[in-house]
Amino acid sequence: MSDKTVSQSPNLSRRALLKAGLATGVAAGAVGAARADGDPLITEIQDWNRYLGEGVQSRPYGTPSEFEAHVVRRDVEWLTASTESSVNFTPLHELDGIITPNGLCFERHHGGIAEINPADHRLMINGLVDTPLVFTMEDLKRFPRENRVYFLECAANSGMEWRGSQLNGCQYTHGMIHSVMYTGVPLKLILEEAGIKTNAKWIMPEGADASAMTRSIPMEKALDDCLVAFKMNGEALRPEQGYPLRLVVPGWEGNMWIKWLRRIEVGDEPWHQREETSKYTDLLESGKARRFTWVMDAKSVVTNPSPQAPVTHGKGPLVISGVAWSGNGRITRVDVSIDGGRNWKTARLDGPSLPKAMHRFYLDIDWDGSDLLLQSRAMDENGYFQPTKNELRAARGENSIYHNNGIQTWHVKADGTVENVEVS
Ligand code: MTE
Ligand code: CO
Repeated sequence: MSDKTVSQSPNLSRRALLKAGLATGVAAGAVGAARADGDPLITEIQDWNRYLGEGVQSRPYGTPSEFEAHVVRRDVEWLTASTESSVNFTPLHELDGIITPNGLCFERHHGGIAEINPADHRLMINGLVDTPLVFTMEDLKRFPRENRVYFLECAANSGMEWRGSQLNGCQYTHGMIHSVMYTGVPLKLILEEAGIKTNAKWIMPEGADASAMTRSIPMEKALDDCLVAFKMNGEALRPEQGYPLRLVVPGWEGNMWIKWLRRIEVGDEPWHQREETSKYTDLLESGKARRFTWVMDAKSVVTNPSPQAPVTHGKGPLVISGVAWSGNGRITRVDVSIDGGRNWKTARLDGPSLPKAMHRFYLDIDWDGSDLLLQSRAMDENGYFQPTKNELRAARGENSIYHNNGIQTWHVKADGTVENVEVS
């Protein structure tokens, strides 16, 4: 291989940046260095190039490379007292595209992971129905099924940040979210099979785990886009995510997505009068509360660079990347600021744009090595703009831990390290 080939920049010339309309005016440095002569990784044959590798079937269920061992869900010890009623976080800064790999989807359990043999699992429909029914997993798989991509965000995501910047990494500030393609049966078909009485207005799904979690969901939502799902990203749900069956409640807060789903009761009023004043509400400064805040409003975060993903390559071409989502539909635009919200540039959305699913954005800049105050703000198809944290506080005070969709700021320093900060 000649020096010339090696030193050619892979597509990232200033011309390429200009063509994409994203060059910032500073001359773009070439990516890739002309150091082929002295680099043993180029001049010497390496072991992996010399010896046969392991054959097929050495990894019957594949796992990531050993060099990716740091890409894992992580928890924050002081956040909860016991691991059975706890949460861990998706490593958003290590991912790309719009799909969360199954092994990296954050977990939130109130009574630990139920281990259920699908042959022993049942789903019962009772209450205000013509015929109470019990389904086996096999029964459910005889209904017409659909494939849909949705994000799931816990209402408490970013909750620790209400009062000021706290946790140093988007994994911890924004990692109570995953985005998965579900395969399942529309809940509507199952409810219709049992026959809903005319006075039926609510459903109460219940989990088979030790917490036997239940939630009240209005019938309108149940008949709209909810799924009873048994697959995620093509394979069976993971035990952590509710194997063998979970409820999918698109765009609505995570606690309603009952895992290990074993029963759905149909009724004429909500069951959770008490929860409605604690779980389903955001306490306002005035002492009043916002009720029935089920939808997760538009939100976004820059995942790279971020505190756990500093800039290690110095100035020059820099890919700023992140994710955006809205419980009200599609994301139509994401703006990125590098100066703490004074100026904004519209980022490039890339990959599928699906309603109530994660979206991926990029802004390709030429970093001059100076400090950045990186922010992103999302807009959804209803024209809703993600608010600043101070706008949210002005509207809701600081008593809540739920539904914090405020704009996140990362301070990128000249040495490439990144810190969670707030700008006023
Ligand atoms: N369902 C049951 N049965 N038990 C639970 O503890 N936790 C809820 C919801 N469904 C929970 C449950 C909460 S608060 C959230 S945010 C989501 O599941 C988390 O889903 P995940 O573990 O797939 O991320
Ligand atoms: Co939750």
